[in-house]
Amino acid sequence: MKKKVFLTRALHDFALEQLRKRYHVEVHSGKIPIPQTKLHSKIKEIDGLICFPYDKIGKEEMESAKNLKVISTYSVGFDHIDTEHAKKKKIRVGYTPEVLTDATANLAFSLLLDISRRVSEGDRIVRNGKWKEVYGAFDYVGVDLKDKTLGILGLGRIGEMLAKRAKAFDMKIAYHNRKHVSKTKEKILNAQYVSFEKLISQSDFISIHVPHSTETDRMFGMKVFKKMKKSAYLINTSRGKVINEKDLVEALKKKMISGAGLDVFETEPIKNNHPLVKLPNVILAPHIGSSTEETRRKMAEITVKNLNLGMNDKKPAYSVGY
Ligand code: DGY
Repeated sequence: MKKKVFLTRALHDFALEQLRKRYHVEVHSGKIPIPQTKLHSKIKEIDGLICFPYDKIGKEEMESAKNLKVISTYSVGFDHIDTEHAKKKKIRVGYTPEVLTDATANLAFSLLLDISRRVSEGDRIVRNGKWKEVYGAFDYVGVDLKDKTLGILGLGRIGEMLAKRAKAFDMKIAYHNRKHVSKTKEKILNAQYVSFEKLISQSDFISIHVPHSTETDRMFGMKVFKKMKKSAYLINTSRGKVINEKDLVEALKKKMISGAGLDVFETEPIKNNHPLVKLPNVILAPHIGSSTEETRRKMAEITVKNLNLGMNDKKPAYSVGY
């Protein structure tokens, strides 16, 4: 009898075809994200799970799983999965790093360019028939990037690619990590290691590239905004919960910082009446860091590969721990 695989959303046809050749495949249809009660009941009977960042796979879900061998998430982030508990239960966890590095760095840099030249804001001005209100010499100006400091929090794969892009725009690059990167890398990227305090107080743009964890939870709050330059912009393509959104709204309203480009939010999708939606100096993207045709296909390939390996009691190609 074929083993059972459940997907909380559809994947590309080629990926589904590959899966159907080997397994009995069921794809959730209907409300997205899948209601937790349905996920909970499905997980009881399956051997493999393909999930997405909004699906919470916690201790409770794993405890009810009788045969689950592998969870393969279609994402680089895995903060929606209790990986510690998975390890205890000997459930393998696969994820999709590397292939989405360029796409996510491009998105971060797009947000940076957009917020610095107020492109999205201008789009709204034009659509709302307000062009004539921004004719003046001092009206509606942005800022240059040349010689400005980009502070990168988390110089990992994506942070590094962002640094390369910023270097091409003649920006200065400062970074903060738990560990220094190699001297060679620092030299290639022209990146200088600084303390977190320096990063937040000296950067003109700050881009966040750390995962969400107990350590990073809401680390950008009022205390940090108070120390940032009034002219600084904050970019976030990592996870929304790294920022205290209530504090960010206050900081933006009080002009404690100049603006923000956000692809991720504390709760997604962000509600229409969320205060961030009303602020002109914010760009809101619907969590599209990895969303290019090429990248998403590669992610599907890896997701299937990780699942297949796990189903065969092997370590996924990109594995979290076990
Ligand atoms: C990821 O892969 O984790 C991205 O944030 C898209 O969800």
